[in-house]
Amino acid sequence: MQFIRSQFPALSGEWTYFDNAGGTQVAQQVGERIQDYLYHTNVQLGATYEISGMAAERISESQKTWAEVINAAHPSEVIFGPSTTVLLQNLSRSLGQLFEPGDEIIVTNFDHEANIGPWVNMEKSGMHIRVWELNKDTLLPDLDRLKHLMSRKTKLVAFSHVSNILGTIIPVKEITSIIHEHGALVCVDGVACAPHRMPDVSDLDVDFYVFSLYKVFGPHYSLLYGKQKHLEIMPGIGHFFIGEDEIPYKLQPGNVNFELTFGSPGIIDYFNSVYHHHFNGLNVNLRSKINEVYRMIADHEQILASRLLEFLKIKKNIRTIGETSAHKNIRVPTISFVVEGRKSSEIPLLVDPHKIGIRFGHFYAKRLIDYLGLAENDGVVRVSMVHYNTVEEVDRLIRVLYEVI
Ligand SMILES: Cc1ncc(COP(=O)(O)O)c(C=O)c1O
Repeated sequence: MQFIRSQFPALSGEWTYFDNAGGTQVAQQVGERIQDYLYHTNVQLGATYEISGMAAERISESQKTWAEVINAAHPSEVIFGPSTTVLLQNLSRSLGQLFEPGDEIIVTNFDHEANIGPWVNMEKSGMHIRVWELNKDTLLPDLDRLKHLMSRKTKLVAFSHVSNILGTIIPVKEITSIIHEHGALVCVDGVACAPHRMPDVSDLDVDFYVFSLYKVFGPHYSLLYGKQKHLEIMPGIGHFFIGEDEIPYKLQPGNVNFELTFGSPGIIDYFNSVYHHHFNGLNVNLRSKINEVYRMIADHEQILASRLLEFLKIKKNIRTIGETSAHKNIRVPTISFVVEGRKSSEIPLLVDPHKIGIRFGHFYAKRLIDYLGLAENDGVVRVSMVHYNTVEEVDRLIRVLYEVI
């Protein structure tokens, strides 16, 4: 833990960060790379002079690194953008042109709005929207309900890998295979998952998968994976003279942010250093190293989650909203709860003076909070942990919650 925390300059202070599903702290390597880009290769790409070529090489290397990490088949399947929200809006603008009035899109009522709103908006172009509701009793998505919603006209199902409120891991591979059997595409929001489980897009066989790097120890920047065969036929959303074969450029209007594109593999440099701190595998490929690091992350996070969930179970006036099991196969340590007779907005104010950052609200999964009848309660209190959090930090929060609730 000492080694891990030493890689994050922000963690040397006295604050405990438990709002990581909102955004994580940044690994030092990320900041160094951003600075390096800005100080040494901050020029436009595509010119004939040497520095421009160097800058282009740096951007292309970053794309290759991310493609390898998420196990994409080609670097051009990696699309960068300012946020998941913008990337999904851009995706819907392009992909939507391939659908026809009367076609159906299925969205959930448990996703962050980023993966609902852009698809619901397509109702204006004559598409029919169907809603895959969470099972209120189990707080899980029900596969039978999904099958029931699917028809010959279903073109796309948009859902998340992990809910940013419930923390439950959704079986994306299984769901994707059902959806593919019906001939539709999937678009998965992996934002709440990627800090805890790095996606393998080939294994999941998803068509589109998106996540935000600022929640994975990087900068405010996001990454969308799209299968090459879809990207090839999708209309571009850039200028009219950008070729349809210019993938992914035709889907990155105005181009990428260069320093953040180059900076973001600093996240991978960080994981690499964690790997080499623990193992001395010299001929191990990048993807295997990342897997090994994420295995350790999942084990540690399970310990953190089980401590907090046990406390929440014992406190009779607290109700956990989501799975009460901490098992790493079931959930990530994004834990929400409500307190009997208290608004969720009251709780963080009582915790703030102890220099522990938690928060309340609907977290832009407003449809889910409304559906669960928690809007009047000001949503839920959310404690979202990641691997750099310690058992001592969780215990400190438990002591504070015990006192104030
Ligand atoms: C699950 C989930 N999806 C999407 C988003 C939106 O991400 P961005 O801020 O990059 O648009 C968030 C942000 O909180 C999120 O938690």
